[in-house]
Amino acid sequence: MLSYQSTLMEPVRLDVATPSRAYTVTIAPGALNNLEQMLDDVHAPGRRFVVSSPLVWRLHGPQLAKALNGAGTHAEPILVPDGERYKQLPTVARIYDALVAANAERGSTLITFGGGVIGDMAGFAAATYLRGIALVHVPTTLLAQVDSAIGGKVGVNHPLGKNIIGSFYQPHAVVVDPALLGTLPRREFRAGLYEVIKYGMTSSAPLFDRIGRERKPIFARAPETLTEIISASCRIKADVVAIDEREAGPRRILNFGHSAGHAIEAVTKYRRYRHGEAVGYGMLVAAELAAARGALAERDRQALADLIASLGPLPSVADLSAAQIIGAMQHDKKMVAGRLHFVLPTAIGATTIVDDVTEKELKTALRKVGFSA
Ligand SMILES: NC(=O)c1ccc[n+]([C@@H]2O[C@H](COP(=O)([O-])OP(=O)(O)OC[C@H]3O[C@@H](n4cnc5c(N)ncnc54)[C@H](O)[C@@H]3O)[C@@H](O)[C@H]2O)c1
Ligand SMILES: [Zn+2]
Repeated sequence: MLSYQSTLMEPVRLDVATPSRAYTVTIAPGALNNLEQMLDDVHAPGRRFVVSSPLVWRLHGPQLAKALNGAGTHAEPILVPDGERYKQLPTVARIYDALVAANAERGSTLITFGGGVIGDMAGFAAATYLRGIALVHVPTTLLAQVDSAIGGKVGVNHPLGKNIIGSFYQPHAVVVDPALLGTLPRREFRAGLYEVIKYGMTSSAPLFDRIGRERKPIFARAPETLTEIISASCRIKADVVAIDEREAGPRRILNFGHSAGHAIEAVTKYRRYRHGEAVGYGMLVAAELAAARGALAERDRQALADLIASLGPLPSVADLSAAQIIGAMQHDKKMVAGRLHFVLPTAIGATTIVDDVTEKELKTALRKVGFSA
């Protein structure tokens, strides 16, 4: 029997119909408790392995272990570190080692239980171990719940660049339990909220408005409110991924804020900012660019800036120069034929993609947002 913590809410189920696999994202407070049933529903093979981090396992492992009490579940979780600097092939090798040691065969399911780092790394292990075993994501950060667990991008960093090694490998299911976010540090939680703002700004004015209106219950992590904003975000990602699995076209709109964002992360060696914070700045830069071109109304640019500011101050960028950021952008792998593609907002909930942004425009926009000359 299914039992959810919240009696008021039905679980939200979203279909992600990609060409390579169709799967369901289930979102509900307490969804974790029904994990075994959901695995059985999607016929996830019976030998089940969990990959998590020591911290996530300490906080939530007992609940997951209780939910997965079927005979096939491998008793010991595979625990690997989850800092960004561990998102590397040697950590994936440790996952392979554990799978080999346990004689994991093709009929195995790998369950990722952690933030985006665990999901990306363990997802890559699942994609490559025996040329692919079943994968189920149980994301535990807001960023992973609204973004990285959906869409099939898995992979690791190379010492010389982020996410350089990877694959597209869709999961069999994604199980999102917003109650897991109760233990997330405030900074991590906020970092995920910038991605929610991204979905609102690119694709949904109602979601955008809701973040401003419901800031209090969001920050109080009220499960019903979280379920709603997470579901709205996942629906947008699911729809985009379904029409553009490998990011050839429409999926690129979800890179809004990411051109400058990735550059900010790169020049600070992925240490100073959380990814979402860098995206917060990146969205401000894109909005300044769009407003300067007259493509975005000043009122809408201000609304975005206000919403971002309402989450609290972003760590300063005053000591980073516009030239450094531009240099890093020119190295980004999202350059197509030497041109930098830029997602510009045209209104709240709408974007356009351009490839003719000049260095001069960029420099002006970066300075307006607080970068030095
Ligand atoms: N695959 C994709 O499409 C995609 C999309 C966006 C980002 N990413 C990747 O995701 C990664 C970032 O993910 P992230 O922001 O989740 O970071 P993360 O996985 O490093 O997690 C952040 C921190 O939160 C901790 N944590 C996780 N769940 C917790 C919980 N419930 N309570 C308390 N602490 C918890 C972790 O131990 C970690 O210290 C990056 O490597 C990025 O490249 C991938
Ligand atoms: Zn992102």
